[in-house]
Amino acid sequence: MNRIDLEGRTVVITGGARGIGYAVAQRALNSGASVALWDVDAARLERSRGELAELGKVSAATVELTDEASVTNAVAETLAAHGSIDVLINCAGITGGNGTTWELEPEVWRRVIDVNLIGPYLTCRAVVPQMLKQGYGRIVNIASVAGKEGNPNASHYSASKAGLIGLTKSLGKELATKNILVNAVTPAAAKTEIFDSMSQQHIDYMLSKIPMNRFLLPEEAASLILWLSSEDCAFSTGAVFDLSGGRATY
Ligand SMILES: NC(=O)c1ccc[n+]([C@@H]2O[C@H](COP(=O)([O-])OP(=O)(O)OC[C@H]3O[C@@H](n4cnc5c(N)ncnc54)[C@H](O)[C@@H]3O)[C@@H](O)[C@H]2O)c1
Repeated sequence: MNRIDLEGRTVVITGGARGIGYAVAQRALNSGASVALWDVDAARLERSRGELAELGKVSAATVELTDEASVTNAVAETLAAHGSIDVLINCAGITGGNGTTWELEPEVWRRVIDVNLIGPYLTCRAVVPQMLKQGYGRIVNIASVAGKEGNPNASHYSASKAGLIGLTKSLGKELATKNILVNAVTPAAAKTEIFDSMSQQHIDYMLSKIPMNRFLLPEEAASLILWLSSEDCAFSTGAVFDLSGGRATY
């Protein structure tokens, strides 16, 4: 595997305790970065921090991303531990289960929007001033092909990810002359613990839509996410990068 140049960079990964975020943390550490894992699951966070520590410098902050004060604290903790935040990867997310739009409960719908869209808004809001001070930054938002296409029985999730794509485009333009680039990726299904919150029928539906006829591997997601997190990504911002095995048509 090649080494992406992240030497000396501090990479914040929300949802880094497991799944795609964990794979991103592994590759970032193997690419010379130091890593701050932000996650709400304190026990899993500590376990992951311990496992990853053999690869490099890793800190962990227990944070509820929908809570402004919690996010502000995580920024302060991370700056105290690492001295800078060069990269922000908004990877935490939830599905909220599956059901038709009229069956899903309003509080479930709101929670999905809160975690998947308001969460990244709050982290960007808290981190961008630091990146402006540094004169450098890379932000990568993990959206979903569902945000482009709209999956049936997942309107809350699809709408949250479509919103995240919109946030990426707006923020990318706002920061275009500041050496802070903001991009999104739109993965198709990857077999992580997030599958535990979805029906088998929905998982089968997602696989049936992927021309490559297999699930995305977290390591494959990490490759693109970390290239977008590096200086090699220089003339793309507010852009959406496909990770759907051929599913997306735009
Ligand atoms: N796995 C897939 O099939 C797939 C497909 C497309 C997009 N995505 C997106 O990729 C991202 C990562 O997915 P994954 O499969 O690794 O999921 P995962 O469930 O394995 O990990 C998500 C992590 O986010 C954390 N988290 C959730 N809510 C949080 C909150 N409020 N505050 C802080 N942390 C919180 C969880 O504790 C968990 O560790 C998500 O945004 C997901 O929507 C995943």
